[in-house]
Amino acid sequence: MTDPEIYPITGDWTNASLDPRKYEDLYESAASSPGSFWLDQATKRLDWITAPTIGGDWSFAKADFHIKWFADGQLNVAANCIDRHLAKHGDTVAIIWEPDEPSEEPRRITYRQLHDEVGRFANVLKVHGVGKGDRVTLYMPMIPEAAYAALACARIGAIHSVVFGGFSADALAGRIEDCGSKIVITADEGRRGGKRIKLKACVDEAAARAPTLETVIVVKATGAEVAMGPRDIWYHEAAAGVGSDCPAETMAAEDPLFILYTSGSTGKPKGVLHTSAGYLLWADFTFKIAFDYKPGQVFWCAADIGWVTGHTYLLYGPLSNGGTTLMYEGLPTWPDASRIWQVVDRHKVHTLFTAPTALRALMKEGDDFVRRTDRSSLKLLGSVGEPINPEAWRWYHDVVGEGRAPIVDAWWQTETGGIMIAPLPGAVPMKPGSASKPLPGVVPQLVDDKGTVLTGAAQGNLCITQSWPGQMRGVWGDQDRFFQTYFTTYEGKYFTGDGCRRDGDGYYWITGRVDDVINVSGHRMGTAEVESALVLHEAVAEAAVVGMPHEVKGQGIYAYVTLNAGREGDEALRSALVAWVRQEIGPIASPDKLQFAPALPKTRSGKIMRRILRKIAEGDVTALGDTSTLADPAVIDDLVANRIV
Ligand code: WT7
Repeated sequence: MTDPEIYPITGDWTNASLDPRKYEDLYESAASSPGSFWLDQATKRLDWITAPTIGGDWSFAKADFHIKWFADGQLNVAANCIDRHLAKHGDTVAIIWEPDEPSEEPRRITYRQLHDEVGRFANVLKVHGVGKGDRVTLYMPMIPEAAYAALACARIGAIHSVVFGGFSADALAGRIEDCGSKIVITADEGRRGGKRIKLKACVDEAAARAPTLETVIVVKATGAEVAMGPRDIWYHEAAAGVGSDCPAETMAAEDPLFILYTSGSTGKPKGVLHTSAGYLLWADFTFKIAFDYKPGQVFWCAADIGWVTGHTYLLYGPLSNGGTTLMYEGLPTWPDASRIWQVVDRHKVHTLFTAPTALRALMKEGDDFVRRTDRSSLKLLGSVGEPINPEAWRWYHDVVGEGRAPIVDAWWQTETGGIMIAPLPGAVPMKPGSASKPLPGVVPQLVDDKGTVLTGAAQGNLCITQSWPGQMRGVWGDQDRFFQTYFTTYEGKYFTGDGCRRDGDGYYWITGRVDDVINVSGHRMGTAEVESALVLHEAVAEAAVVGMPHEVKGQGIYAYVTLNAGREGDEALRSALVAWVRQEIGPIASPDKLQFAPALPKTRSGKIMRRILRKIAEGDVTALGDTSTLADPAVIDDLVANRIV
């Protein structure tokens, strides 16, 4: 089956760096000799201390499982993102910072200034005992210091672990503990949409549960009064005592660069580990090719630095390319739904990279908020984090981009380091809702549930059969979990956890997760995590959580809860449980709907039948499928009768 709706390449984009033919050739040369293709890219695109002589060295087989790229090379990631641009582009703006409050002045940080700021931050870390291989947790608002801190870690070979500022003290404590970081970098407060976020107070709360923590570096961001204890250090005071000169540490290609926690289908979040050279090359290469980036263009990745999109396309990709990256402190819809477009106009943004959930929220407010702005600088649009529904796609294309800007619908994951499947502008005609074709070096495969390889037009589970430089290298502290999670479902292949359809033109259409992971506003949430949080509450006996369709968020969270004997499921307890989950994990995990149930549907062996719970949550109660294996089919009637609409 082919899909009729194809948007051809038009306008400026007929002159893009790649055309359809060049894309095919590039894909072909990466596929036919991946080793030399990537070695060549790595030597050309990156600045090495010792140039590598080997490309990929990997095996996904159990007996010989390993993944390495450019293993004999040495480099420093921060030097690649800063120092190598100084001679020619020292005065180029590296970071434009747009404050939450529109009346405040933006900040423009040149590469030379960035070099000094990062060097100074690195020296502060060194004074406080941080060295190569140490883990440093960042719990920061969207301010330039977040970028300085991450790059300072890279400069001295420390491993950063950025925790999204919206996570709770508990979630933060768990992530500090898991990687054993002795130091946290935070700010007094963050600002978002006119609200203050008490980051320092949250770190204090987390510290009580994280005994490894010795030092907290506090950046003065809002100037709010905060309690400073014996382990707390003001960044500006520490910075006054050091210089800005800090040599970049020599790092082996496979030395760790960062850890980023992400949800899986089971257990607590995993610390996804990325290493230096392969990750940097993937960030550098995919940024260049997926956005056809040219120096001077202002690139705005609207993701928070606490997510992988913020790592790769706010920081490492643009900076490695000597580009200009825009960092926005606030919300796209504050003070009103025009703000995002006002920021585009203020800074002449060339490319905007955002999530479908943001687009749906903006679309709901009406076209007028868009049309009253100019947006003539905007030449390219990106979408990331979840499938984009064709309606939002067309709105983005027709109203926001006025038909002139292609949409790069980028499919990838925290685990992949950077973009894997996307329509390269100028090179791949677009179909609304399809991430389209793989980037050079990416070899997708669809398999059915038994692992049989599907060819041609088909729908199945999305695997990747060949390693690529940006692939994650491990789960922090648990290499076995890495292998078990990704390489055992379908032997010898990396399994993404996503379902996917390939049409007759070879276009890929991601259909969403096929595991117990849900995607809420482009953020990954393990249903198991929300369930664990709920059962910690003294009133709760058992909980089951599933995703449900949500108009703006893509997916919402539907929780079924059975209570301990003697507890009554009233409105007060419902609100208390929602507040409890917010407190345990963070606002993004708040259940949208919470249904009290006398019992959950289980098989005779005691397994919760989530398939049925999903159907009920979706409101699809006439097609519950086979319920004959249920231990007590009567449970269903109550669940259906008391479904929350
Ligand atoms: C999951 C990964 C990609 C960085 C941000 C999220 C879903 C991501 C798309 C897309 C359809 C997408 C997948 C994937 N996803 N991008 N363009 N179309 N689905 O990273 O938190 O690791 O989540 O997000 O389900 O597995 P993440």
